[in-house]
Amino acid sequence: MEVTTDEGQYRLLQEAEYPWELLLEADPSRAQIEKYLPRSSVYALIFDELIAGVVVLTPLTEKAVEITSIAVVEARRGQGLGRRLLKHAIETARIRGCTRIEIGTGNSGQAQLHLYQSAGFAITGIDRGYFVRNYPEPIEENGVPCVDMIRLTMEL
Ligand SMILES: CC(C)(COP(=O)(O)OP(=O)(O)OC[C@H]1O[C@@H](n2cnc3c(N)ncnc32)[C@H](O)[C@@H]1OP(=O)(O)O)[C@@H](O)C(=O)NCCC(=O)NCCS
Repeated sequence: MEVTTDEGQYRLLQEAEYPWELLLEADPSRAQIEKYLPRSSVYALIFDELIAGVVVLTPLTEKAVEITSIAVVEARRGQGLGRRLLKHAIETARIRGCTRIEIGTGNSGQAQLHLYQSAGFAITGIDRGYFVRNYPEPIEENGVPCVDMIRLTMEL
């Protein structure tokens, strides 16, 4: 699906176009990303041919989808693009006929938890120790160890 607006263009990317640097900012493990990417749809928000942000949708079931990655290039953060990418992902899931959309983030992701809950997601689970079990290096954000995966869900 290609949607052009005055404020950039959303485009479903081909594998050769995947912005790895950006994907690795949302998830520091290439091995983890490679697990979900082959069965995912990668959408980019593009301005003047340049990718400003990316959101990845991965099917969970026939009626449920997970946002497995969302990232905005550093220079363009704090301008509402993350919120727009999130809305685009939710709308895309609706159009696909999904009844549920999920997202997971680290316990230390203050900005992400704010963004997702203010967009309508509710916390539905905690996967304790997820980041310790699945990542070889310790992760920390703003001095807070990233240990648990907070799962959030929105019914569509
Ligand atoms: C998370 C991310 C996608 C947000 O994108 P963004 O374009 O900066 O977000 P927006 O400008 O749309 O802001 C969304 C909300 O988050 C808030 N926010 C942004 N940074 C924040 C921070 N450091 N602390 C608290 N809230 C913050 C904004 O105030 C805004 O809320 P508001 O509309 O109520 O004011 C972006 O920061 C990013 O790419 N981070 C690195 C990758 C990453 O961590 N991805 C998520 C993995 S779970």
